[in-house]
Amino acid sequence: MVKVAPSVLSANFAELKKDLDSIKECGANWIHYDVMDGHFVPNISFGYSILNDISKVSDLYLDVHLMITNPMKYVDEFIKAHASSITAHIEAFENEESVREFIHHVKAQHVQVGLSVKPATPIEAIEKYLDELDLVLVMSVEPGFGGQKFQEQAIEKIQQLKQLHQNRSYLIEVDGGINAETGKLCKDAGVDVLVAGSYVFQAPDRKEAINQLK
Ligand code: DX5
Ligand code: ZN
Repeated sequence: MVKVAPSVLSANFAELKKDLDSIKECGANWIHYDVMDGHFVPNISFGYSILNDISKVSDLYLDVHLMITNPMKYVDEFIKAHASSITAHIEAFENEESVREFIHHVKAQHVQVGLSVKPATPIEAIEKYLDELDLVLVMSVEPGFGGQKFQEQAIEKIQQLKQLHQNRSYLIEVDGGINAETGKLCKDAGVDVLVAGSYVFQAPDRKEAINQLK
């Protein structure tokens, strides 16, 4: 069964604890935490201190998605704030050495590590790191905003990652525009984790929405 990771970007921050309790009760497996810096993406969300607060009131796996220009600068703060996994964008690194430094640094702290690709970035850009990754996050929308339409080229990338997997340990995760219909396409392609923001948080019945994704 796939894991469902609701994105708190779509939660009501004035009632965050209530929303976190509600998604857990409704069967969410992970919490997806979207960090945006207004530079790597044209939007600002939240940083590590809110993650630390969340870690005190939720025991769900905290899946941190860094959409920031300089992931190494802030990664320790997210580790201290109890991230379970930290995923950064391959497009945010200048060279192979800095990608490897990020991967090794996160793993050395016993936190899981991932790389993400934007819709226009091919899987080939991360292929040489696959042996070392716990997660690969395929963006099915341009990062920056919730509520966008699913872009179909993500399906091919999921299939490609499934083929490349062999005995590697990474999970395949997809993020952006996921609902019952697009979630099914991703499951058929072999995805392991579905991120869903607006579909879960705006659903009249969150339990039903999460069940439909599973
Ligand atoms: C987009 C974020 C997503 C977003 C998903 O930049 O990475 O996690 O919150 O939201 P929906 O599911 O509404 O597309
Ligand atoms: Zn995300």
